[in-house]
Amino acid sequence: MELRVNILHRDTSYWGADANEFRPERWQDPNLQPKWEYLPFGGGMRNCPAHQMTVTLLAYIITRLVREFEAIENRDPILEFVDEYTFSTRSRNGVKIALRPCRIRFPFANGMDPK
Ligand code: HEM
Repeated sequence: MELRVNILHRDTSYWGADANEFRPERWQDPNLQPKWEYLPFGGGMRNCPAHQMTVTLLAYIITRLVREFEAIENRDPILEFVDEYTFSTRSRNGVKIALRPCRIRFPFANGMDPK
């Protein structure tokens, strides 16, 4: 049995008429509390055992990137997000970006810098 999450995650009956639009701001809506409508890590007894670890790791990586770089520049000549569905959905064009280092260094709250 296969679950097509690319179809589930674009179900207009739950996500609304703009379900196909790449609009990450939709997550700012506190009323958006999907359960079985959103399954990036699967669900039930055989869900991804690394779900929490992966989300924590990604939050850490994003925080470190934000601390080190003041901007992320797009280097992809195609501006809109063009997806490609394999096992999961990803950008068909890859990730063409450049990271610009921060000019200001923000000290850690505890005064320590892991560098
Ligand atoms: C963004 C990263 C990841 C995503 C989106 C993801 C997603 C998934 C999904 C959708 C499943 C199938 C769940 C189901 O059938 O209901 C799965 C299973 C699994 N994932 Fe992940 N995963 C990620 C990262 C990882 C990592 C980093 C590991 C290991 C360190 C991992 C280990 C596993 C294992 C062992 C299973 C099989 C669980 C089972 O069949 O009982 N995953 N994952």
